[in-house]
Amino acid sequence: MSDTMRGVVFHTTGDASVFQVENVAVPSPKEGEVLLELDFAGVNFVDIYLRSGLYPINLPAIAGREGAGKIVKLGPNVPASFDLHVGDKIAVFVQGTLAEYVCAPADKVLKLPARVSTKIGSAVMLQGLTAWTLVRDAHRVEKGQIVLVQAAAGGTGSLLIQMCKYLGATVIGTVSTIQKAKVAKDIGCDHVIIYTEIDVIPEVMRLTEDKGCHAVFSGVGQSTFAVDLASVRRKGTLVTFGNSSGPVENFRVLDLSKKNVKLVRPTLANYIAQREEFEVVGREMLDLVVKGKLKVEFGGEYTLESVGQAQDDLASKKTTGKLLVKIKV
Ligand SMILES: NC(=O)c1ccc[n+]([C@@H]2O[C@H](COP(=O)([O-])OP(=O)(O)OC[C@H]3O[C@@H](n4cnc5c(N)ncnc54)[C@H](OP(=O)(O)O)[C@@H]3O)[C@@H](O)[C@H]2O)c1
Repeated sequence: MSDTMRGVVFHTTGDASVFQVENVAVPSPKEGEVLLELDFAGVNFVDIYLRSGLYPINLPAIAGREGAGKIVKLGPNVPASFDLHVGDKIAVFVQGTLAEYVCAPADKVLKLPARVSTKIGSAVMLQGLTAWTLVRDAHRVEKGQIVLVQAAAGGTGSLLIQMCKYLGATVIGTVSTIQKAKVAKDIGCDHVIIYTEIDVIPEVMRLTEDKGCHAVFSGVGQSTFAVDLASVRRKGTLVTFGNSSGPVENFRVLDLSKKNVKLVRPTLANYIAQREEFEVVGREMLDLVVKGKLKVEFGGEYTLESVGQAQDDLASKKTTGKLLVKIKV
């Protein structure tokens, strides 16, 4: 194994041009860590928030928050109870995955079942765990409920739809184009609203007999927030989990009292901070993959050199499903 590796590094925040593929030292696993050789890494909005400066990060940094590959080295004192060995196929949720190698604390590693490839593993690590915690913890989706999923053809949205269907809900999804409507329909969305052609609120009211939805899941943030709130029924839940159009600002808590709405603004890391939580949620989500209940819509494959392009494509609404970076060629 060489002492150096290729990684997507940024020294300042800004647009996608801040990224450079550089030769950097292969990290050495510290106490309780494993060294992973990455096959694939996922492209996510969090990478854009960190690159642009919306979320803080110490610089210089290697981009990327999720990936999957094989363990190539164990650091000292990795507890035997984790059952981790060189050669194991794993997925991780740590900073620095847009590189050939990354170190991860053993308690942040998810072992992949034999039937789950590193391609699928890297695709479901962040968005899959997020979607699953949204429907089980942020709002428990149950049989008979009607839910609204904004950005229904997106990476997280397409997984949310499948999970809500699996849990027995009726799903209304919103998309911007007819092509995206087809993607959402094909993965099981019951009613798709093309919001560039039809007003969302009256259509949601028509589909819910004027009651609104038991839950609204929106990662879009600011631009849909008013529609999100208007689409929730009395005593329903609004789960706003992202900022793809910008963070929600200037919200009056008093407005929730009009319908006794529960407002949740979750982030994955806070649902899986403890190892036990991470294991349970990870096992449940991977089980859905193994059983064929959760399929990944692949929307594009990029290289370390084209990570900036991948992020620009994601941020400009051009994509559907999951974007991956192939690292091991
Ligand atoms: N809280 C967490 O822990 C967590 C974890 C993972 C992801 N997220 C959040 O989930 C959201 C979705 O992430 P994703 O990776 O799955 O993305 P995505 O849904 O695949 O892509 C974003 C989609 O949002 C819609 N959109 C509407 N207005 C937009 C705008 N002004 N700019 C960009 N997109 C806009 C577009 O769909 P249409 O063309 O159909 O409108 C676009 O394709 C992001 O906000 C992300 O931060 C949060």
